[in-house]
Amino acid sequence: MEDYSLPQDSLFLGFDCSTQSLKATVLDATLNIFATEIVTFDSELPHYKTKDGVYRDPLVNGRIVSPPLMWVEALDLILERFVRSKLNFGRIIAVSGSAQQHGSVYWKNGSSQILSSLDSTKSLVDLLSNAFSVTESPIWMDCSTTQQCRAIEKAAGGALELSKLTGSCAHERYAGPQIRKIFETQPQVYQNTERISLVSSFMASLLIGNYACIDQTDGAGMNLMDIKLRSWSKIALEATASGLEEKLGDLAPAHAIAGSMASYYVERYHFNKNCFVVQWSGDNPNSLAGLTLNTPGDLAISLGTSDTVFGIAADHKPSLEGHVFPNPVDTKDYMVMLVYKNGSLTREDIRNRCARKSWEVFNTYLQQTRPLNGGKIGFYYKEHEILPPLPIGEHRYVVDNFKNDFVDGPREHEVGEFDAPSEVRALIEGQMLSMRAHAEKIGMPSPPRRIIATGGASANNCILSLMASIFGCNVYTVQRPDSASLGAALRAAHGWLCHKMDDFVPISCMYIDKLEKTCLNCKLAATAGDEKLVSKYALLMKKRVEIENQLVQKLGRL
Ligand code: ADP
Ligand code: XUL
Repeated sequence: MEDYSLPQDSLFLGFDCSTQSLKATVLDATLNIFATEIVTFDSELPHYKTKDGVYRDPLVNGRIVSPPLMWVEALDLILERFVRSKLNFGRIIAVSGSAQQHGSVYWKNGSSQILSSLDSTKSLVDLLSNAFSVTESPIWMDCSTTQQCRAIEKAAGGALELSKLTGSCAHERYAGPQIRKIFETQPQVYQNTERISLVSSFMASLLIGNYACIDQTDGAGMNLMDIKLRSWSKIALEATASGLEEKLGDLAPAHAIAGSMASYYVERYHFNKNCFVVQWSGDNPNSLAGLTLNTPGDLAISLGTSDTVFGIAADHKPSLEGHVFPNPVDTKDYMVMLVYKNGSLTREDIRNRCARKSWEVFNTYLQQTRPLNGGKIGFYYKEHEILPPLPIGEHRYVVDNFKNDFVDGPREHEVGEFDAPSEVRALIEGQMLSMRAHAEKIGMPSPPRRIIATGGASANNCILSLMASIFGCNVYTVQRPDSASLGAALRAAHGWLCHKMDDFVPISCMYIDKLEKTCLNCKLAATAGDEKLVSKYALLMKKRVEIENQLVQKLGRL
């Protein structure tokens, strides 16, 4: 039997540099939470004058950026907080991190010198104030690069070809189109840049005092990496900007060691000089780790302001709607992800209009109505949706020949509205059927092995029961405030363990037989529906996809 235990008394530190804050979670050797901290950008670093962590450019449509120096100062501040709370930095044996995906940081020529000679008597913000060629980093909310997206897709042989090659078609927020925009519109700035990091590898670079590699999982969110080979794609590089490969450096797996903690932190905070920094990665990949997804068929559904679906699949199919990344916790398999704009706010809208503004009434309607809703199918877009790309609007259909819960003949007719209980069921069934359809389309096994539900609406058991009946698997919930920084701390321990074993070991080795004793424990919330119903839902799903495609052809931009 291999010994996968972690040294007693050791600690593992995980950060999450998200859009609005820098958070940290410290885990002990039993994988329970030892300490947490948070620095909120707007309120605690007000001199950067961000709103919700970002600047929305009033002059350039869709340009949304954040100052990288603010992230540097947040690191100073959060470490000071830990000093004040008397965290014994010497016990930390590995550190890793999570960061908002897609954002890019541009290091000025000569900055590697600054990074490798950090003076521990000074703050990072003072040392790095002149290190960036672009002082406002484009982030994931930016949508100012549509022109660049179309040009990159054209150069790569079309949107689907680019998706086959890199795991996604071109997205405005992805780093590749953002880099192309800088290359095209500010050639001097591009020339004056020696290194381009993602927010994740940028933060790792601060800790090791050297340029850290981009990890393969977050690297897949750039439209630059060959998703099969996990290396930079010549075709994608050429479609983006010249001389780019040398500015990106190498790629590394997410569990690899990025380097040792720089002497700056050993001298200033008394970190152990043998403390490792494990590659940082994106926030969604870190959440996947924090939610204990580790096997093909594991799926997480986050029901928040926007709904996000991500899971592990043994293979993937190219699609225009989804995102494919290498699995952040294994050397094989893929992480697939879907992002919906219409989540909780759309659910609230129907609750307010049809269920007297009460989740209780909403749930009574879900319980009163029959599964499959008598063939009533609804599409509700309060916001311009991205999955599928459809404008604000509502569309309702009744499937004809829908007798005794069975679709006989693929015909439907459009109607104006449903009665209130049917409206509520049509919304939730519709959201879940769309998730199931698109997850299957991108390569998720059906049924999934299990679903872990998070986000505000995962408090609603009626919604979770419907999820279980439609997907045909058990649904679990977790009581964890921040799965991204927790996942980062867990990945720190995993990277440390792989290094100790001198070989890759599955992340589940650390917790699988003692889950209930760790902070990673999940609670069963709803059990898989009966198989016949799952098959009937498959028919309704097929019908829904047909109608969805027609709507996209008529109204969408695909
Ligand atoms: P965010 O994505 O902004 O972090 P949260 O994950 O915190 O959002 O989710 C907040 C949402 O949770 C609210 O907008 C609310 O609609 C939803 N919510 C809270 N309780 C319930 C409930 N019982 N049923 C359905 N939705 C709920
Ligand atoms: C994912 C995405 C967002 C950011 C948010 O593609 O753009 O979820 O990672 O931090």
